[in-house]
Amino acid sequence: MSLDLDKRQRAMLREMGVRLWQPPAPAADQVAPEVATNKIAAGAHAERAKARLDAESAPARHAPAAPAALPSARAVPAPAATRPAPGLQPSATGVDRMDWPALQAAVAGCRACALCESRQNTVFGIGPAAAEGAAPQVDWLIVGEAPGENEDLAGEPFVGQAGKLLDNMLLATGLQRGSDASVPRAGLSTSLFITNVLKCRPPANRNPDPAEVAQCEPYLKRQVELLQPKMILALGKFAAQSLLQDSVPEVQKIPLGKLRGQVHRYLGVPVVVSYHPAYLLRSQSDKAKAWDDLCLAMSVAPTVVRSA
Ligand code: URA
Repeated sequence: MSLDLDKRQRAMLREMGVRLWQPPAPAADQVAPEVATNKIAAGAHAERAKARLDAESAPARHAPAAPAALPSARAVPAPAATRPAPGLQPSATGVDRMDWPALQAAVAGCRACALCESRQNTVFGIGPAAAEGAAPQVDWLIVGEAPGENEDLAGEPFVGQAGKLLDNMLLATGLQRGSDASVPRAGLSTSLFITNVLKCRPPANRNPDPAEVAQCEPYLKRQVELLQPKMILALGKFAAQSLLQDSVPEVQKIPLGKLRGQVHRYLGVPVVVSYHPAYLLRSQSDKAKAWDDLCLAMSVAPTVVRSA
C-alpha cells in the first residue's frame, strides 16, 4: 500500500523532519465495513499541520495566548458547581466505583487540596459526545500536566499556545479534538479524550506538587478505567511519572527522553511517552522526535475514521 503523497508533500514532510507512517493493514476480520483506516501524515492534514506549526512562536510553558483573544476572568463567571468557597473538604470517597457523570461531578466539586481556592474552573477533560451516563468511546487518551491560565478560564484542557500545537500535531495523525458541539471534519477521527494529571490550575503555573498529584490521581485512574482507551499518550514528565510510577522503578530519576521510544503499561493500557507541547514550543528541534512518538502511538493504536 502506498500513501497518496505527491513530491511537494513528501518534500514538505521531509523538511519538517517528519517520518512517514503508514497504518499496518488490518486483519480483514478486525475492520468493520464502514471503518476505513486513515491516511496518516498525508496530504491535507500534514499540510495544514505544517502551515500552523510554522506559525507557532515559542512562548514559555502555559504561555497565555494573545490577551485580545482571551476573555478576562471576570467576563467568564465560573459555573456555580466549581466556584470556590472557603475551606477544604476530604476527597470524594468511592471514586473507583463512580460512573462517568458521578466522576465529572466529583471533580467539579473537588475541594481536596488548596488548588480549589485559586481555580476558576476545574478541567475534567474533553472528548467526543457520549451516550447519556456513559464515558465517550475513544481510542486515544492524551494526558498532560495541569491546566494553565487559558484552560482554567475555559474549563477545557490545552486551549492555549501549547494546545494549538497539540491540535496541529493531532491533525497530522488524522485526529481532531472532539466535544459535544464539534462536528468532525471529513476524514478526521474524534476518537480521543484529552485530560491532565491535575484537574485544577496550580497558581502562576508552577509545577504540580506531589501531594496535589496524589490527591488527583484517583480521578485520572477512574477516567482510564471508564474510557478504556487503546493507547495513552503521556505528554511531559508529570504525566509520564504519574502513569508509570508503579511500573517503572525510580521513574522520577529517569529523564523523559529515556522513557520515550518504548511502550509502557498503565492498568494494562499501552502508554507512549512524549514531550510536552509547551516544551516543543521552546525546542523546535525536538518536534521531529515528537512526531516519532506519534508514529509509535499510531502503530500501537491506529487512528481510524468512521464514515458518517
Ligand atoms: N499544559 C498542560 O499540561 N495541560 C493543559 O491543559 C494546558 C497546558
